[in-house]
Amino acid sequence: MTPEEFRQAGHALIDWIADYRSDLEQRPVRAQVKPGEVSASFAVGAPQAPQSAEHILAELETKIVPGITQVQHPMHFGWFPSNASLASTLGDIASSGLATLGISWESCPAATELEQVVCDWMRQLTGLSDNWQGCIHDTASTACLTALLLARERASEFSQNRGGLQGEPQALIVYTTDEAHSSVVKAALLAGFGEHNLRRVAMDPHSRSMLAPCLAQQISDDIKAGFSPAAVVASIGSTGVTAIDPLAEIAGIATQYGLWLHVDAAMAGSAMLLPECRHLWQGVEAADSISWNPHKWMGTILDCSLMYVRDVEHLVRVMSTNPSYLRSTVDDEVRQYRDWGIPLGRRFRALKLWYQLSIDGVEAIQNRLRRDLANARWLADQVKQTPEWQVLAPVSLQTVCIRHQPRGLHGEALDRHTLAWVQAINQSGAAFMSPSLLDGRWMVRVSIGVEATTRAHVEALWQLLQQQAGKALNTPIDVKNQ
Ligand SMILES: Cc1ncc(COP(=O)(O)O)c(C=O)c1O
Repeated sequence: MTPEEFRQAGHALIDWIADYRSDLEQRPVRAQVKPGEVSASFAVGAPQAPQSAEHILAELETKIVPGITQVQHPMHFGWFPSNASLASTLGDIASSGLATLGISWESCPAATELEQVVCDWMRQLTGLSDNWQGCIHDTASTACLTALLLARERASEFSQNRGGLQGEPQALIVYTTDEAHSSVVKAALLAGFGEHNLRRVAMDPHSRSMLAPCLAQQISDDIKAGFSPAAVVASIGSTGVTAIDPLAEIAGIATQYGLWLHVDAAMAGSAMLLPECRHLWQGVEAADSISWNPHKWMGTILDCSLMYVRDVEHLVRVMSTNPSYLRSTVDDEVRQYRDWGIPLGRRFRALKLWYQLSIDGVEAIQNRLRRDLANARWLADQVKQTPEWQVLAPVSLQTVCIRHQPRGLHGEALDRHTLAWVQAINQSGAAFMSPSLLDGRWMVRVSIGVEATTRAHVEALWQLLQQQAGKALNTPIDVKNQ
């Protein structure tokens, strides 16, 4: 493809995207395809002869779009907001177009230095002190893995330079809760700690926040038993019920015992753009690492996960490899982001944050977040005021965990009812929510915060919930495929 051909096809694609985004509400929220349907629509082998860009654009509409669950749809209330503001989308397109190679400062000084700039903007915007320095990872999963590698190496005094964890006399222990995201467990396993050395600290039964005294007790028991406590991962806004672990207390304990404290605020980090929400992570300054995802509620197009650390020297010592072909004459003066994480080659992700912050502006983003918080409070109020409906967990931010509990319906019968009404709504394409287990029983998470979701959409959802829950009582639905 020549640049001229690119120009033509690119204009057509941008036009198509603009139409697609503005007409999104007319489409079903959940992908309407069956497993295997998308792959079966493609030839078994790659095309030998070139196909026109128009043809591919047509196939995008007919083959790809039906296989997309529309997370930008205003009636999407599933999982968590995965907003992709159009301003940040432009930044992502710019990143693709510039096609830079991010393996060293020298390979793209602008990528390194803009990343420094936007990470520092975001630090200030979330009220963190200048003790923190940040970088952009693809995901919070990567950030958590990085944090636990740092914890492992600090606790083991650089076992990686000896026999690794296999050579350690005492098992290193990681503490978190059952409410923590699955990526925390995954990171602990991948970092080599082992399932047997992962402690799930007891939680408050209602808020599902870590009980700090239980953490202290568990650490003390582990020390007595000859283990070596290494890290604690606290959740500020868990995925399930937006549980907020008591960070200040946890930080005190982590400091006392010399544990690495990683704060997973993947979803709730966006709320820290609002000064009135920052009490939720009070104590954060005493942590060792923090990660959160602008690619969720804040609306920077995936992938864009911020990670901040206080001890950059330790980070670089763990992550740095310095092959001769990557060295340059300015190494002492510049930041080498390859030494801040796992990959060598890095995308120019800072562009999408820069575009979003510059074109949308901070105030508009803050206003949208406040709108979503108010919408969540409104929905929670409706649910609480309506007989046979329950809000099951504190509404810390924008997620409302609910259940319709008709009199006399308990246990598995209640589960069948919950899955029946939520599945009916999800299958209809009118709205989408995530059912989720809470203490072994199904409930429904209504995660509010898509950029296009207004109060009118939340009101429409509330009507739909009541209608479908009423219908499901009278019409048993097959919930096998939930
Ligand atoms: C609290 C929390 N932590 C971590 C993650 C993982 O995020 P990522 O997809 O960026 O790895 C999520 C995603 O839902 C989350 O909600």
